[in-house]
Amino acid sequence: MLDRLRDRGSRLLFGASARFYDWITWQRTWREHCASLADLFPSATPDGLRVLDLGIGPGVSAIGLKDRRPDIEILGVDRSGRMLRIAGRRTCEEGVSVALVCSDAVALPFVNECFDVVTQHSFLYLVSDRHAVIREVYRVLRPGGKWVMLEPNEGGCLRSVPFMEGELRFRFSMIAWLLWSRGFGRFGETELADLLELRGFEDVLVQETLSGLGLLASATKVGSAGKAVV
Ligand SMILES: C[S@@+](CC[C@H](N)C(=O)[O-])C[C@H]1O[C@@H](n2cnc3c(N)ncnc32)[C@H](O)[C@@H]1O
Repeated sequence: MLDRLRDRGSRLLFGASARFYDWITWQRTWREHCASLADLFPSATPDGLRVLDLGIGPGVSAIGLKDRRPDIEILGVDRSGRMLRIAGRRTCEEGVSVALVCSDAVALPFVNECFDVVTQHSFLYLVSDRHAVIREVYRVLRPGGKWVMLEPNEGGCLRSVPFMEGELRFRFSMIAWLLWSRGFGRFGETELADLLELRGFEDVLVQETLSGLGLLASATKVGSAGKAVV
């Protein structure tokens, strides 16, 4: 019941506030934090690197990733049509090529093992059926593929915000992120690691980032075909 309410709340919030979310996150520091996820991506294979950005929102996460790794091919998924429309406009304005698909991440419309990397910035905490998403990520990743994410940290504290580097709007976005995520369920470091290990991911690493407000995590799908080389 509570899960269903949360899910509804998240749908409403990100549908209705797509423009506000775009405005608040369209700044250099947010974009750089999104870009930093790409530092954990493997190097490209001769066939390139196919990356899935879950919960792409208004597009800043994929645009940031492309800033850092122009060589990658990105497909962004979101269940909000409004968010995808903004993402389409933003990526077009920035001259960045990103394929966009409207889908719920609990049932991804992709064949098995078709991505080298799955990534997300501020997404999994919003999902009530996290196990379903984790199963889907495992299914669409190729063996040896990598999952890289940034999620809000349960231990994050508002008091850190005034001391963070970045423009005023970034700090404002961090306050909104903290308050927002409190209602949906942030992750503890061990909780996130356990979730990934339980599904069979290996080389699970979880560390604090964003002055303790966020958790940066990565994990590898078991298997050796085209094993990721970092
Ligand atoms: C907090 S925004 C993050 C956007 C972007 N990654 C960023 O960092 O700025 C989360 C996005 O995930 C989407 N979302 C939430 N639950 C989803 C689900 N189950 N399937 C697909 N998208 C979902 C929301 O519509 C929203 O656009």
